[in-house]
Order: sequence, then structure tokens, then C-alpha cells
Amino acid sequence: MNSMNLDLSAVLLDEHRIQARVREIGTQIAQEYKDSVPVLIGIMKGGFVFLADLCRSITIPLEIDFMAISSYNGASSTGAVKIRKDIDTNIAGRHVIVVEDIVDSGLSLQYIREYLQNHGPASLKVCVLLDKPRAHKMETSFDYVGFQIDNDFVVGYGLDYQNRYRNLPYIGILKEEIYS
Ligand code: IMP
Ligand code: MG
Repeated sequence: MNSMNLDLSAVLLDEHRIQARVREIGTQIAQEYKDSVPVLIGIMKGGFVFLADLCRSITIPLEIDFMAISSYNGASSTGAVKIRKDIDTNIAGRHVIVVEDIVDSGLSLQYIREYLQNHGPASLKVCVLLDKPRAHKMETSFDYVGFQIDNDFVVGYGLDYQNRYRNLPYIGILKEEIYS
């Protein structure tokens, strides 16, 4: 057993469910973008595991870039967004897909969307693995969503608490005693 499992109150999504859903999304993206070479922009750090699996399930040529922002301290949102790593690709006229791990308030993604839109992409879509619709602080929707979940704090498959748990191959709910 994975020793990090002891810090979870429950496993929310096991490896098999995640992999199956990621493949579905990859197939859909491959069909919808078959006449172009899209640019996938992974949002670090949390999006790196999802992006790694997703890109390998997309069977058309594509490019990959990364952006790093920070908006969170531990388990609660500050709402303040900073760019820590910018993209290297010139996305003007390109078909861009933002790949993000999880949407909570929606503030990070709103900032990223506006920022990328200002670079003049031909199109801009958003792919999120997890969405917490009840936590949204604004009207927002996404083009590809892996799973909608409740307002629990989850870790694994790229998602962290204080930079740990990202390497869990599944997604679990973190025990409250770990972060309270
Ligand atoms: P938002 O700006 O409130 O939508 O926050 C989105 C970011 O907060 C995500 O990209 C994650 O980095 C982090 N986050 C939100 N909820 C969770 C969670 O349940 N576990 C781990 N990180 C989370
Ligand atoms: Mg993130």
C-alpha cells in the first residue's frame, strides 16, 4: 500500500477511472483538432501529470508549453495571481488548449484566459481534470471537464498539499487533520 494513503479520508477517483476519462477526452480533442496543430499549455505545477497522460492519448501532431502561476497558500485561496513562468511559444493565430488540474473559485483560470487571449490565439479552449462547481466565485464554464466534484480538498495525480502528494497515481480526499 502507498504510505500516503494514510493521510486520505477516502479515494475519490481511482487510477482506472482517471485513465479511462483522460483517454475519452484525448480522443475527443484529436477529432476536434484534426485539421490543425494545437498548442497545449499545461498549468504548472498541478497540471503536469494530467497533461502527460492527456497528450499521449491525443493521436494528432501538437505542441506543448507550460505556464506557472501561483495563487494558493496551503489549502485556502488568496485570490492573488502571479505569473511565475511564462509561455515560450508565440500563440498568435494558433489553436490553444489550456490544461489545468482543478478549478475552485475560477479566479486562476479567469486570469490565465484573459492573459492568453491578449496574445491573439485563433481559438482558446480550456480543459480541466476536476471542477468544483459549488466553489465558483464567478459564472464560468469549460470546454472539456474530466470530473465534477464536491468542495473537498483533494490531492494526488498532480494535485498537492504543500507540494506533496502529487505523485499519488489516484485522487483522494485529504484528511482534515492534515491541513487544519
Ligand atoms: P482557483 O483559482 O480558486 O480556481 O484555484 C485553482 C487552483 O487552486 C488549482 O489550480 C490548484 O492549484 C488549487 N486547488 C484548488 N482546489 C484544490 C484542491 O482540492 N486540491 C489541491 N489544489 C487545489
Ligand atoms: Mg493549479
